[in-house]
Amino acid sequence: MHLPLLFILPLLFISSQAAVLDFCVADLSLPNGPAGYSCKKPAKVTENDFVYHGLATAGNTTNIIKAAVTPALDAQFPGVNGLGISLARIDLAAGGVIPFHTHPGASEILVVIQGTIYAGFISSFDNVVYLKTLQKGDIMVFPQGLLHFQLNAGKIPAIAFASFGSSNPGLQITDFAFFKNDLPTEVLALTTFLDIEQIKKLKGVLGGTN
Ligand SMILES: *[C@@H]1O[C@H](CO)[C@@H](O)[C@H](O)[C@H]1NC(C)=O
Repeated sequence: MHLPLLFILPLLFISSQAAVLDFCVADLSLPNGPAGYSCKKPAKVTENDFVYHGLATAGNTTNIIKAAVTPALDAQFPGVNGLGISLARIDLAAGGVIPFHTHPGASEILVVIQGTIYAGFISSFDNVVYLKTLQKGDIMVFPQGLLHFQLNAGKIPAIAFASFGSSNPGLQITDFAFFKNDLPTEVLALTTFLDIEQIKKLKGVLGGTN
């Protein structure tokens, strides 16, 4: 069966339009979802949507972990929406640590810009630990979904940039997941084999209840 050319042409036009969608700058006025944000109308997109100045200055490390993560994900940097890529700046004061956490949605590459960072991750299959001391210029990759940490192993502030294979990699900090909510202490004790006293102490520090 041969379709009339007049019928086929509009179909070709539609599919080629879809294939050449160059970008989908996030419309932050609409909700985010598994596929990212909706696209801003192309006519409203400007060069400023593809530039972000937020990582130029150090984050505030005056906090319990002596560290700051400054994100340039889709919510801060709408131009990366839909491109499978994003960045964050990590500042670690002396003694600073990014506690164990996972990114459910992306692998991460860390590049050290200043100082010395001790970093590691744990495999999910057999719980093998991979640890390394990183100097300026070194990079380390953290596979998607795996538990990992970074800490300042030097005496001066450390700076690093982390890139992600998603515009919204997600973040779950393990201590927060356990101790910063109302998960009952008895349940935590039974399911983690930690002492009640230690659980109550961490809930106290992190603001958990029950
Ligand atoms: C950094 O954070 C601390 C604690 O919240 C605050 O007291 C301090 O003013 C902040 N410093 C700057 C430069 O914003």
